[in-house]
Amino acid sequence: MNKSDLTTAESIRARRSIKSFRNDPIPEGVLQELLSLMQDAPSSWNFQPTRVVMIRSMAQKEALAGAAWGQKQILEAPVTFVFAVSIRGWETHMGEILKTGVSSGAWPQKFADWIGENAPGFQKGLGEKEREYAIKDAMIMATTLALAAQSKGYSTCYINGWDESKVKQIIGVEGDKNIAIALVLPVGLPNSEAKHPGRLPPAKTIFTDRLPSPAV
Ligand SMILES: Cc1cc2nc3c(=O)[nH]c(=O)nc-3n(C[C@H](O)[C@H](O)[C@H](O)COP(=O)(O)O)c2cc1C
Repeated sequence: MNKSDLTTAESIRARRSIKSFRNDPIPEGVLQELLSLMQDAPSSWNFQPTRVVMIRSMAQKEALAGAAWGQKQILEAPVTFVFAVSIRGWETHMGEILKTGVSSGAWPQKFADWIGENAPGFQKGLGEKEREYAIKDAMIMATTLALAAQSKGYSTCYINGWDESKVKQIIGVEGDKNIAIALVLPVGLPNSEAKHPGRLPPAKTIFTDRLPSPAV
């Protein structure tokens, strides 16, 4: 952490969805630190389903902006992150993940064995929700990146407005049912300001113990 970095609270307050970016590159050292912070995000069972593609070439930016109804943040930002998930990636990586948990001293062997025995059944029991569970992990990683970037003076814009099959085609996984797209996130120096658009009063969104019924 550099002295000039914003604190977590400052980053949360400073972050806005920026619609125009300068195309100044992100210095390699900063980018590597952002990637390292991003990769530290947690995931369910520590299964780490998120696969991140950095879109950096103009040809790929143009293609991605085309799949996102021409949103120009994607064209302008030096790097746009595509957060994809490998829904069943855990089947390949679970052994390595459990081994690492044990060798790092974080998990007793017994706990790793318990995950190895129980997680596959839990995952399979999710059925179609397995996609949703992987997407949750990707969104946590994207949020971690957005706040880490903000802490270093870089802005972002969460982007949901894209055609999934086109985004998959652009990143080279057309038709692969194991891959889903969670989010697109341009990162760069802001070229425009954004005011806080406000939030609903907390009384409408935050409750204790129960939701009111009917919940709206
Ligand atoms: C999951 C998600 C998807 C979004 N998709 C888009 C988008 O496609 N295009 C866009 O310009 N803004 C998008 N936004 C930005 C929202 O409009 C913005 O977060 C909201 O208006 C609140 O403004 P703030 O981010 O500055 O606090 C998205 C935000 C989120 C969290």
